[in-house]
Order: sequence, then structure tokens, then C-alpha cells
Amino acid sequence: MVREKLDQLYAEERRRIAGIPDDRGDYHNPVFGEGPDAPAVLLVGEAPGGEEAARGRPFVGKAGKQLNELLGAAGIDRSSVYVTNAVKFRPVNRKARSISNRTPSGAELKAGLPLLKSELELLRPAVIVTLGNTPLKAVSAIAGLDRLTVGEAHGKRIEVRLNGYECTLIPQYHPASVIYNRSLLEVLGEDIRELGIFIKETEGTE
Ligand code: URA
Repeated sequence: MVREKLDQLYAEERRRIAGIPDDRGDYHNPVFGEGPDAPAVLLVGEAPGGEEAARGRPFVGKAGKQLNELLGAAGIDRSSVYVTNAVKFRPVNRKARSISNRTPSGAELKAGLPLLKSELELLRPAVIVTLGNTPLKAVSAIAGLDRLTVGEAHGKRIEVRLNGYECTLIPQYHPASVIYNRSLLEVLGEDIRELGIFIKETEGTE
């Protein structure tokens, strides 16, 4: 039931994205969420990069490798979490001879909110982890929270209510932002270790 509904919503979003009339995105290779239908934890990234768009799966490039290593070190099995993005297509800047990733615009983020909201409400994870500022902005908008930044909110446990169900939002840094920054990498590693402990405690009380 959850899976069928998600597949239907993803098909609708695929059609919407394919009809966007500019060339600021890779609109024919969207990437949707993947993971179990009743996950304890749902991770939200920003938007797919080139590797993700090519393979049709979230977090399978460099940032995904970093994420997998951090999850593994914290004893969290990636296949047990649901992984999605705030924006489902790769936003790009095109130049004559190159194409590069860009941060989604406010309008692109806003257009992706209804689907992200539906994913959260259908999957009802006990814990939502946002990776970086963009998904934090998206989930805050959905949950009616004041504007937060990852610098001040990372690692905090924020109780949120979404369409009648309660869950915990834990903002974290984006794994791509820590790749070349040793001290941030340590902060993210510590936040994910804490997440691993929190998940075990949550499971123990269910
Ligand atoms: N960065 C993201 O935010 N999401 C992905 O899926 C890959 C890289």
C-alpha cells in the first residue's frame, strides 16, 4: 500500500519534472527515494548529483561513499534506512563545454515540498535526518518550524508533528561538505555515532 502510493507519487513527479521548460536541470533522469516501507530513520539529502542521475539512485557518488562509511562506523546499516532528496532532479549550470551541479533555487525547493511531505507522511519514520541546509529548510517548512541552520542545529533532537504523527528531526551536515574539511568530518562522524545510539535506544523502547 505504502509502496504503491509512493510509486504513483514518483510517477507523477517524473511527469512534472519532464515538463519543466528550461534547461537548468537534468529533467529526464530524476532520482527518487529508496529503502524499506516502514523505516525507523529517513535521510533527506539536497538533490542528486551526476553519478546519482546516471544511476537513478540517491547517494551513490562521492558523497554517498562518505555517507556509507560514516553510517557503517556508527553501526547503522544503510539498507535499513530510507534515503531521499528534497529535490528529485539534478540541478545544473550548463556552459559551452561543461556542466556542473548547483544548489536548487528556492522555487525548485518549494516545488519539491509536496512530494517530500507525502514521503514523510506515508513512511512515518521515527527519526528524520536532514543532510545539510537545503533539506533542513525543506523539512522546517513542512513542519512549520522557524528557520534553522545546520551550523546551530546539527546533532540536536527536535520534536516535530507532521499531519498528526510525532517524530524527531536531527539535522546533520551534508557528507559532501565534510570531505575536505577534517574538523567538520569529525563533527558529522560524532553526530552520526550519536544517531546510532539514539536509534538503538528508540528501538529498545518500542
Ligand atoms: N548529494 C545529495 O544531496 N543527494 C544525493 O543523492 C547525492 C549527493
